[in-house]
Amino acid sequence: MTKSLYIHLPFCKSFCSYCDFKRGMYKPKIVDSYLKQVINCLKKKYAKNSFKTIYLGGGTPNCLSNQQLEYLLKNLKNKIDKNYEFTIECNPEFITKKQAEIFKRNNVNRISLGIQTLNKKILKKVNRHNPQEIVENALTILKKQHLNNISCDLIYGFNNQTKKMIKYDLDFLFKHTIKHISCYSLEIKPHSTFGKQKYQTDDITIEKHLEFIIKYLKQHGYKRYEVSNWAKQNKYQSKHNVATWLTQPWAAIGYGAYGFENDHYYFYHGTRLKWKLSTKKLSKTEKYQQVLMMGLRLQKGLYLKNKLYFEAYTHFKKQLESSNLFVKQNNYIKCRNLNLLDELLIKFF
Ligand SMILES: C[S@@+](CC[C@H](N)C(=O)[O-])C[C@H]1O[C@@H](n2cnc3c(N)ncnc32)[C@H](O)[C@@H]1O
Ligand code: SF4
Repeated sequence: MTKSLYIHLPFCKSFCSYCDFKRGMYKPKIVDSYLKQVINCLKKKYAKNSFKTIYLGGGTPNCLSNQQLEYLLKNLKNKIDKNYEFTIECNPEFITKKQAEIFKRNNVNRISLGIQTLNKKILKKVNRHNPQEIVENALTILKKQHLNNISCDLIYGFNNQTKKMIKYDLDFLFKHTIKHISCYSLEIKPHSTFGKQKYQTDDITIEKHLEFIIKYLKQHGYKRYEVSNWAKQNKYQSKHNVATWLTQPWAAIGYGAYGFENDHYYFYHGTRLKWKLSTKKLSKTEKYQQVLMMGLRLQKGLYLKNKLYFEAYTHFKKQLESSNLFVKQNNYIKCRNLNLLDELLIKFF
């Protein structure tokens, strides 16, 4: 039975210039109807499931009202297994004491906080409203509720962003003993504001900044376990995301959500209130491409005693072994340098 659940909440109160995630403006009535559909789907399709990991992503799940969050979370509260991980993506701007109490009361035990940067000029440029005081306040509120398993997202690659600024952001996270850090390289998505403005990034600076991030996080005791993710100890790795990177089944609910169950990938599109479900059965080649593309993102790689990973490896053995980035060691296959993963992946795409 599927052990992971992803719910997409496609609502934001403002839009960041770099982002083209599936989301629209927060409207209370739309959210009310949306949540009813989510809960109906949960009750219909997953009445008997209990999940090891639940992930509420967005959009901005915590821009919902307290009443809406309470309704959603109380319906999920008893859908968890022992040793569960229950994450909610949050924007620091909307965190309040009342909201943190709702999280705590309803078994949420991991917070993924979008910070991106603390630099005021860049925040303004990307239309975000989380200066340092707001983030500090959010962290204090969360910690008071003993919500200590916090992950923070940063983005590097903005124009005029210097190594000093990135160091400042990282030092801030160290000072607040953040256990998990995601550092994403700025991607210019065609439908985002930056995409429309033809925003240009500088690959050489980005590469230098990534080198710095890797070195600095290592010095401070964070282990890179995936292309963009670092954890203080293994227990702080995102169990939900690791399950999806390992192509373990996950259920998905909501407009814009992808799932993988019973060997089928599926995707909800349509509109926020009229979802359309598309299912795709992949050919063997497509499935193995998917397994390797996801699994090789992990520093540890894929364990060949697992039947699916072994089949994927055997299927693309020739292509993989033709690259000096490919490593096969102690029954694991992995990429020698995660920064160059794309160069390995194009061998079999
Ligand atoms: C759904 S958002 C996080 C929650 C909340 N909406 C917020 O922004 O605070 C997920 C994360 O994706 C990352 N992200 C979104 N668009 C990106 C892009 N174009 N390039 C790099 N990272 C991006 C950001 O780090 C963001 O925090
Ligand atoms: S980064 Fe977060 S807040 Fe900004 S538009 Fe994307 S989902 Fe919304």
